[in-house]
Amino acid sequence: MRFKKIAAAALTAVMGFGLAACGSTSGGTASASGSSAATTAAAGATTTAASGSASGSFTTAEKGVLHVATNATFPPYESTTDDGGFTGIDIDLANAIAEKLGLTVTIDNMDFGSIVAAVSGGKSDIGMAGMSVTDERKKSVDFTDTYANSKQVIIVTDDSDIKTPDDLSKAGKIGCQEGTTGYMLCSDTPENGGYGEDHVIAYNNGIIAVQALLSGKVDAVVIDAEPAKEYVAANPGTKILDTAFADEDYAICVSKNNPQLRDAVNKALKELKDDGTVKKIIDKYISAS
Ligand code: ARG
Repeated sequence: MRFKKIAAAALTAVMGFGLAACGSTSGGTASASGSSAATTAAAGATTTAASGSASGSFTTAEKGVLHVATNATFPPYESTTDDGGFTGIDIDLANAIAEKLGLTVTIDNMDFGSIVAAVSGGKSDIGMAGMSVTDERKKSVDFTDTYANSKQVIIVTDDSDIKTPDDLSKAGKIGCQEGTTGYMLCSDTPENGGYGEDHVIAYNNGIIAVQALLSGKVDAVVIDAEPAKEYVAANPGTKILDTAFADEDYAICVSKNNPQLRDAVNKALKELKDDGTVKKIIDKYISAS
């Protein structure tokens, strides 16, 4: 079957080139589909914040505060708690970094696709959202050093005919979270390693995409490996296929106009890596297996 062949070759290409396949799709800009759940930084109030262990001075949107843009639908990196708070690796890491910078964290929860614009526009100081470094996003924001690696995986229902990534070409529809690398990879043209936009449905978040899988609206969901584990654990009748693809690195995005903040965050991040804090935070949420 021709399409299957193409798709199989395409997936191999995806595995081979990783993020290169993302280059042709627009990065995390736009897609501002409304419902930003929460806090918006007070516009304008740019002040120099005290810089704990960081050298040099940097500015934040609000004095003494580190506004962190995220999309809290992505456990174990970020999710909401029953009492309306936020939890996860990125939340703990943001707090640890802020402490070193002499700041307190305010989480700006929004659609994933709005984060890059919030940061480049200076409403939020940094974006931490299990965000993969891509060339396209680098046109709009700077990234810090990376703090985690990820892959894309395929979630299907237990009784699915889709048993290998090659079989993904059989999927009438693939569900992804809008604005993500998973969406970019899958919606790209077959020549570029994707399946074509017509075969992909973008959902506001991965939780909704998995619900669409369970109700038969899509035949597979392509999303980052660790959130996939959590979604599958919460949704009996779903499973993750063995083969993962597309190596990605997570990093923190910072406005291109604020290299001092990027450098201060990098310094804090290095200290937190060196003293084992980053590993401790990751181990708290991801059990070694
Ligand atoms: N790593 C993927 C990307 O950068 C997905 C991130 C989704 N994050 C989230 N908090 N919903 O595109």
